[in-house]
Amino acid sequence: MARDRRDKYYWKAKDEGYRSRASYKLFQINGKHHIIKEGDTVVDLGAAPGGWLEVAKEISGGRVVGVDLKRISPIEGVETVMGDITADRTIEKILGLVGQGGADVVICDAAPNLSGNWSLDHARSIDLTRSALGCAKKILKPNGHFVVKVFQGDMFNQFLEEVRDNFAFTRSYSPQASRSQSAEIYIVGKKFLTSPVRRGSEFEVEIKELGSSGDGAVLIDNFVVFVKGVELGDRVRIKVQDVKPNFAFAEVIKRLE
Ligand SMILES: C[S@@+](CC[C@H](N)C(=O)[O-])C[C@H]1O[C@@H](n2cnc3c(N)ncnc32)[C@H](O)[C@@H]1O
Repeated sequence: MARDRRDKYYWKAKDEGYRSRASYKLFQINGKHHIIKEGDTVVDLGAAPGGWLEVAKEISGGRVVGVDLKRISPIEGVETVMGDITADRTIEKILGLVGQGGADVVICDAAPNLSGNWSLDHARSIDLTRSALGCAKKILKPNGHFVVKVFQGDMFNQFLEEVRDNFAFTRSYSPQASRSQSAEIYIVGKKFLTSPVRRGSEFEVEIKELGSSGDGAVLIDNFVVFVKGVELGDRVRIKVQDVKPNFAFAEVIKRLE
């Protein structure tokens, strides 16, 4: 390793016995966003050599599963899967370990092999993170949390929106332990949404009830959607603006006869 890559986190990991300096990124992400709590089942995608697995196990003490193309040398109490996170077979293996109930948390620090060509590397990174999101959608419990590494570039905002569509709260975060010259940033999605409505969905509804705040309240597949600026009996076309775990907010885009 080149001398200038041995920064304070490299030495700290050596001193404190973690497998990689990346461990401190997860400590910092978790310190800020409270992703993993005691007892959680955690799946780590792209986990070798295992620095994040050590931290996840230390914080949760629960079931922790690490997945990587490379073999991960054993960590006490951690299960590992050797496989490609873009393959359905790997997702089936993960579900076989965590059970059909799913995981509380999915974390992903996977990185593609870098070519040095910025736009090619960005496109490969977005492909991989999109696979991680697809995997998280199959294995997360409702209200579960997700963290994924992304290399910044022109497709970043679109990917951030894709995460936003599936989680009640979404933030991007750069831990101090990321190298200052690095293009990496982490997206944190909290409270995985399994509701039947999504941001941007449109519906035609009749307002038959008002909520306590005076907003219209309609049920869509048994999910409550609040609509501002309506009265009892109004028939309107609405567009969903924001989705929370137990309800959503929508605005009127057209008044119907
Ligand atoms: C930066 S390392 C992860 C470091 C880890 N978080 C730690 O703390 O030790 C990125 C890992 O992603 C893995 N990876 C890249 N593409 C993958 C894929 N398609 N499926 C599984 N793992 C992948 C690589 O093999 C590599 O081990």
